[in-house]
Amino acid sequence: MEQLLNQITALKEEITAFNGGDAETFRIKYLGTKGLVKTIMGEMKNVAPENKKEAGQLLNEFKLFTEAKYSELNEASSKSEIGNPKSEIDLTLPGDNLPLGSRHPISLVKNRIISIFQRLGFAVAEGPEIEDDFHNFSALNLPENHPARDMQDTFYISQNPDWLLRTHTSSVQVREMQKGKLPIRIICPGRVYRNETISARAHCFFHQVEGLYIADNVSFADLKQTLYFFVQEMFGADVKVRFRPSYFPFTEPSAEMDISCLICGGTGCNVCKHTGWVEILGCGMVHPNVLDNCGIDSNKYTGFAFGMGIERITMLKYQIKDLRLFSENDLRFLKQFTSAV
Ligand code: DAH
Repeated sequence: MEQLLNQITALKEEITAFNGGDAETFRIKYLGTKGLVKTIMGEMKNVAPENKKEAGQLLNEFKLFTEAKYSELNEASSKSEIGNPKSEIDLTLPGDNLPLGSRHPISLVKNRIISIFQRLGFAVAEGPEIEDDFHNFSALNLPENHPARDMQDTFYISQNPDWLLRTHTSSVQVREMQKGKLPIRIICPGRVYRNETISARAHCFFHQVEGLYIADNVSFADLKQTLYFFVQEMFGADVKVRFRPSYFPFTEPSAEMDISCLICGGTGCNVCKHTGWVEILGCGMVHPNVLDNCGIDSNKYTGFAFGMGIERITMLKYQIKDLRLFSENDLRFLKQFTSAV
């Protein structure tokens, strides 16, 4: 007990005379988790039981004393910095300028596409970027050796059984159909891959949003109206659309949808190759084989599907001429897109 008293007295003297640094140094030395107050508190266990009460009071008082000194130091240091011409810290200087980030143009356009379709009751569905053959090809009426596979060559992670980087987000549609919960009204945004030579118009990866609606009596008229609504919301009420017959193994009939060229207004320019029209997506009525492959009764249900490249929509929206700009991470390019479209 006497030893404890002596220790406290010595420490109090030391603290009163403290001028060994700023308040933070003081805090670490005395009040920190490894500080002297903690250490001396630990002495309690060596005090005889009959003295414990008195020792506890002394230690408590010592702790309050130390804390009071800390507050004093704190106050003195803040006073000395504000308005003190000798202080090394000038609190009137402006703070560091932290540059604010902004969303990538692909994300801005993706979010815009999602919000338009959400207003029509579409939910967002996502799936893996590494797919098996069934979900990416076979289920979609693209059996092995089907010539249409050539247009979607990709990167194989392993073969037999095949694991590959998905070539479209149609694989997510398959996964949703397999769940068997109808009606289905989804859009599937995501990154996809193709074995392409990189150029201003093609890349080995890009982004898609695909859509799928399956229910009773879904017709081609529903498809047209849905996509027409989307285009008007995305590009403005004046834009015209046209559907051209096309071929996809997973839809029948299939079509490609063009919009009137936003650059020349339809009179003809380089971007639309002087046709006045620009293709923006593929679509069609889901092929009965696809429905059957995914466990949906094709005699009972019909549906439409569509798929678009987000890069293509973004390039048209912002008049960007080279696809590679999206993945070069050049801040001078990225900084230009700060707000939603
Ligand atoms: N998956 C096609 C592609 O990547 C695009 C597409 C066309 C998706 C028609 C669809 C569709 O869902 O119905 O080229």
